[in-house]
This record gives sequence, C-alpha cells and structure tokens, in this order.
Amino acid sequence: MARTPLHRYLGLTLLLVFCWYVGPSLRNRGASGSGLGSGSGRYSSNLDQSNWIKEVLANNSIETEVSFASRTLKYIPDAKERLSMTEVNQNLFPDGFADVHVGSDSPIPLHSGSTLKVHVNKVLRPDAVNASSLIFGVSTTFGRFDGKKTTPIKEWARWLTDGRGNSNGAGLVLALFNSSDAEINQAQERLTTAGISARVLASNKTLDMPGRYVDLVQLLWNDPSRAERKYFALIDDDTFFPNMPDLLDTLHTHNSSKPYYIGTITERTDWIIRDHTPMAYGGGGIFLTPPVASTISELPCLEKDSEGDYVLGGDQGDKLLYNCLHNYTEITLTYEPRLNQEDGFGDPSGLYESGRSFLSMHHYKSWHHLEPDKMHAVASACGGDCVLQRFQFNDNFIISNGWSVAQYPHGIDFDTAIVEGTFELPNTDQLADVLHLYAYGALRKSLSKTGRKKGWDLLDAREEGSGVVTQVYIKRRGDERWSREGEAAYERDGVIVLTWIP
Ligand SMILES: *[C@@H]1O[C@H](CO)[C@@H](O)[C@H](O)[C@H]1NC(C)=O
Ligand SMILES: *[C@@H]1O[C@H](CO)[C@@H](O)[C@H](O)[C@H]1NC(C)=O
Ligand SMILES: *[C@@H]1O[C@H](CO)[C@@H](O)[C@H](O)[C@H]1NC(C)=O
Ligand SMILES: *[C@@H]1O[C@H](CO)[C@@H](O)[C@H](O)[C@H]1NC(C)=O
Ligand SMILES: *[C@@H]1O[C@H](CO)[C@@H](O)[C@H](O)[C@H]1NC(C)=O
Ligand SMILES: *[C@@H]1O[C@H](CO)[C@@H](O)[C@H](O)[C@H]1NC(C)=O
Repeated sequence: MARTPLHRYLGLTLLLVFCWYVGPSLRNRGASGSGLGSGSGRYSSNLDQSNWIKEVLANNSIETEVSFASRTLKYIPDAKERLSMTEVNQNLFPDGFADVHVGSDSPIPLHSGSTLKVHVNKVLRPDAVNASSLIFGVSTTFGRFDGKKTTPIKEWARWLTDGRGNSNGAGLVLALFNSSDAEINQAQERLTTAGISARVLASNKTLDMPGRYVDLVQLLWNDPSRAERKYFALIDDDTFFPNMPDLLDTLHTHNSSKPYYIGTITERTDWIIRDHTPMAYGGGGIFLTPPVASTISELPCLEKDSEGDYVLGGDQGDKLLYNCLHNYTEITLTYEPRLNQEDGFGDPSGLYESGRSFLSMHHYKSWHHLEPDKMHAVASACGGDCVLQRFQFNDNFIISNGWSVAQYPHGIDFDTAIVEGTFELPNTDQLADVLHLYAYGALRKSLSKTGRKKGWDLLDAREEGSGVVTQVYIKRRGDERWSREGEAAYERDGVIVLTWIP
C-alpha cells in the first residue's frame, strides 16, 4: 500500500468521476433529436441507423428534399398460418407523409408514431435452419462467379449459412468451367470466408454445357458428405431459396428412400409444348433423392453418336437429364409448383405482390430485376415465412414485405387474391398468352399509369441485430408507373422506412 503513491489514487478517482459524468451524455447523443421512444436499447445506435439511411439514399442519387414516412412494426409470432393477406386494422401512416430535408446535419425522423403490432407465423430465422440433408450443385464460370453484377455470394450466404458466417449444414459443389487453379482456389476461399460449406472444382474440360450440367449429379453423388444427404439439388447460379425452413419441410414430405425427381416446369405454355416433355426446368431447382442420384450417376446419359451429338438429344442440361431418366428408367417428374422457373420478363411486381410464399426464385439478375439478399434481410427479423408476406392497412397501403409498399389512393377496390399483370405478356404467340393462366391464375389488369396505385420499391435493408431489421423503400419522382397519362408527376422522391422489431 505504502508503495502506491497517492496521486495514482487521485488520478483513478478523477477518471471514474469523469466517466460517470460524461459517459451518459455521450451515450445519449446517439439518440438525441431522433424521436426514438421506448425500446431504444434494441437498436445498435439510432444515429447509426439514420446515417446508414442517408448513405443509402445518397448512394442511390436520391435528392435531399424527400417526401418521407416511417413506421416501426412489432411482429408477434402468434398467427396460426401465413395468410396470403394479413389484415391489420390500423393505419400504416396515420400522419401521412412529411417533407423532409435529408442533410448531413439533420437526423431522419424515424420511429414517429406508436409501434404497430402485426401478427406473423412462427419465426424461423436463418440461424434456426439445419439444412444438412441438402447438397447443391452449380456449374458456372469463374467470370460469372466473380463478376460484379453476377456474383452470387451475397445471395448464397442468405440460404447456405445461418446469417452470421457459419454454414447451415447444406453442402455446395461448385464446378467451374475453363478456370485456372488460382481462380478455383480464390473461389474456394471466398466461399469459405462467407461461411458456405463448399467444394470448388474444375468441371470436366471435355464436356459441353449440357454435359457439365448432367455431370453435376455424379459430382454430388460422389461427394464425401453423401451419407448425410437426402436431397441432391441441381441449381443455376441465379437460383435463390427465400424460405429454407419451408423448402426443407416440403422436401421432407417426399420419402428420400424412394426415387423422386422433384422440380417445376416453365410458366411459358408455348415452351412446354415446344419442349414436348414434362421435364423439370433447371432454374427453379431440381431435387433428386439418393436412389435417383445413384441411378443417374451410373447411366450412360452423356453417350454420344458418331456425329458427336448426344444419343439422347438435349441442347440444354435439364432436358438431357430428363431424357436420360425417361429413356432408361420409370422415374417421372414430381411437380412442385412453388418452385419457380420465372421465365417472364418485365416488371415482376404483380408476382412479388401476390402474397405467395415462394420456394425458389430465378432470373432476377437478367430477365427481371430483384436483389434477393436485400429482400431476404427481413427473414432475420420475422423469419422465412415473412418474406414477401402481405399486410393490408386501413389507409389503403399494402406492404409486400421485402419488395414494396403500395398505396391505392382510390381504395383497394379489386380482388387482392388475383395477381396484377405487371409483367410483359408475350404477344407473338397466342399460346404464350395462356402462360400465366395456368401458372399464376387469372390476371388483373396492371394499374400502371392509372393513378390508382403508387409504389415504393425496396431500395435496401439492414440487420440491426437482435431480430431488428430496417428497410428503405423508394418511389422515384420520375417513375411513370404512378401517374395517370398527362398527370403531373409528384415533385419529390418518396422514401418510406420500416423498422421491424421483435
Ligand atoms: C455507399 O457507397 C460507398 C462507395 O461505393 C460504399 O463504400 C458504402 O458502403 C455505401 N454505403 C451504403 C450504406 O450502401
Ligand atoms: C442437423 O441435423 C443432422 C441430421 O439430423 C444432425 O446430425 C446434426 O447434428 C444437426 N446439426 C445441428 C447443428 O443441429
Ligand atoms: C477460357 O478462358 C480464357 C481466359 O479467361 C478465354 O480467353 C477463353 O475464351 C475461354 N474459353 C471458353 C471456351 O470459354
Ligand atoms: C470427362 O468426360 C469424359 C466424357 O464423358 C469422360 O470420358 C472422362 O472420363 C471425364 N473425365 C473425368 C476426369 O471425369
Ligand atoms: C420410406 O420408404 C422406406 C423404403 O420404402 C420405408 O422403409 C420407410 O418406412 C418409409 N418411411 C416413411 C416415413 O414412410
Ligand atoms: C429418349 O427420350 C426422348 C424423350 O424424352 C426421345 O425424344 C428420344 O428419342 C429418346 N431417345 C432414345 C435413344 O431412346
């Protein structure tokens, strides 16, 4: 004791006093002026959330004078089922929209109004998924794997990991065509870093595209993890699974000891007739049980004739696979309509605002535009069933969770159970018009340019931790869909922020 100089004690005491005095004001600074009510402890930092939103808006060249509304939604997991439409007997935005300046000096007016309670199904988040019964095979090029626009890593992390950098048990075999050893190592490293349990290898150089696709079955079947797998899946590099718990439940209704070839067909009736085959189309995902994977891996599916063409025919991998099963076995397609090939072009709003729960999605980086990782972020709040779930409010707003918030200024005077025909309908072929009749049911006329619908599309979403997710939706002022012909467009960009809390 005597050796410790007095001034050290004094110094320590002063430091403690300083912390006690200054600490709270530093902590409060984060929340000051934000209007954040109770439950502030949940947010990593309210100022942080506000800054993030500003950055998102700035990055997407949204002007600083916006028309703004926000709401905090508390999800309560006591609904008996996931309905196509969940009616909430409240207004979503009781105070309407406010003109707001989004400047570096002014915080965004988040969490105004009371917290709104919504009832959802049991919450099954990515960290509750055990997908060890599944292994997926993809054949692509390093260029696509690595390309700025095409890289699937962000999306794969959503359904192949627990959302926190660990594998959810599912395996992935990535066969890269025409890639160097260095590229293969780089791909392996990036997947491992993302928490994805993957095995990257070079695809067989002597095979063409359909051949490489069918060869995946053999690669999956010979994977060291084979014994723990029940379903061997072939997917495209732009196939997304938005609801893994639901996918697993659905697959497990098919006894994996028996031979099942599970998939979906195209929505294009004309293509079904052209292809003449009840085959599973690859983009929606094709699932094989072990007896089927084993059988295919031993069949001469890739046999060629003297001309160098496949004996079985098939210019596409999924068709060659079908032809092989059809010619050599009695196995037929088990059709799962909730897998989606999505062979449509144009604005997919009608589909994503239909309240359906999708098992797979496809073509979102090419034939239409969707960023599935952003859409899916909300699964880390209210679970997989909550993705694209619809909530209807008294003030004529409908949230299609993760895709859009839509307002119907003249009321919701149409049947919300019917899909809005926003996508491009092929007009070259009468048969093609039948397309959505069988796949999506009757279509409503698009409300685009009628002035009867205004839509805010998801721009970005972020997990705040502890089951909290923030979403930013945007309605650009120049968007012609939301004004009647001749009607002056609204003069501000519109921004909606939704915060989902447990
Ligand atoms: C905004 O863009 C910059 C530069 O591309 C990027 O580093 C940053 O992460 C982006 N911020 C958000 C919130 O997306
Ligand atoms: C996942 O399920 C498999 C098979 O049922 C089991 O062996 C494994 O322990 C489970 N993993 C976790 C993390 O629960
Ligand atoms: C293989 O990759 C090389 C270099 O990236 C490229 O020049 C070549 O065109 C590719 N070949 C094929 C068949 O894609
Ligand atoms: C590559 O494919 C060809 C043609 O099917 C086959 O003969 C050869 O054994 C395959 N090579 C490997 C390494 O699998
Ligand atoms: C699955 O099929 C196997 C083999 O046909 C059978 O022994 C088993 O009882 C079935 N399992 C269930 C749950 O029906
Ligand atoms: C294999 O089956 C397809 C239909 O799936 C048929 O068009 C083709 O002629 C068959 N090929 C052989 C060699 O039997």
